[in-house]
Amino acid sequence: MSNEFVVRSLDEIRFWSRIMKEHSLFLKLGFRCEDTQLITEANQFFAVFEGIERRSHAFTISADPEQIKRFNSEVHNAVSHIWAFKRKVLGLILSCQMPGANNFPLLVDHVSREAFYFRNRLEELNTGKLEPLPDAIIDENVFFLRIMADHAKFIGHLLDPSERQLVEQARNFSHDFDQLLFQAKDLESMRPQSQTAPLLDQFLDQNRVSVKSLRDFKQIARDLIEACRIKSIIHPLLADHVFREAERFLFIIDMFERSLTKK
Ligand SMILES: [Fe+2]
Ligand SMILES: [Fe+2]
Repeated sequence: MSNEFVVRSLDEIRFWSRIMKEHSLFLKLGFRCEDTQLITEANQFFAVFEGIERRSHAFTISADPEQIKRFNSEVHNAVSHIWAFKRKVLGLILSCQMPGANNFPLLVDHVSREAFYFRNRLEELNTGKLEPLPDAIIDENVFFLRIMADHAKFIGHLLDPSERQLVEQARNFSHDFDQLLFQAKDLESMRPQSQTAPLLDQFLDQNRVSVKSLRDFKQIARDLIEACRIKSIIHPLLADHVFREAERFLFIIDMFERSLTKK
């Protein structure tokens, strides 16, 4: 195991542990006052991921790889638990056991998919797959395009209905990303990779253009929300959170682009 393993592991954990911590907060804010047990659980997850985040920043890139491997396993375990918690909450909402709660089922499903993704990355890292592999390019894009399409839908639904122009823009993004997602899924079914390889450059370029414009839209929305200049029920931290996830997708697209040009 190498220094690269430590670098990649810490990078994933620093990014995603903060995300998991914030999910705990968003879930909590959507519960009702009487959901005291769920609120307690959400608070516990917040503390767990805050601790993991803090420890991930305390490690340096010269840390012992064996120690990082153990850390990855420990984080993997915590992520499995928050994933199960999210699925439990989704089940409660879908079976109408939390009438009046303020989280969309799609949002709860979405945050559980992000936990699943994080857990899978940790497994890959500990089995020696440092970067998402080039033959996983399509899978990764399918995952992130769906995440981006969901974000556009959440923004559209959480803006005040009187913010007509912004709602319209969010709806357009939702449509664009649904289209890109279908395109990615079409490519997915045209595998094996040897046959789709020549198409990947163009595929990534096209996705990058759309992700950049969505990222810019999220940035503007975030700044307006923070400055209290638009009407919505979007928590400022949620606005920043979805912005950061778009940045993450761009980072991954660039990483893939580099791996393609290396060949
Ligand atoms: Fe998230
Ligand atoms: Fe997300």
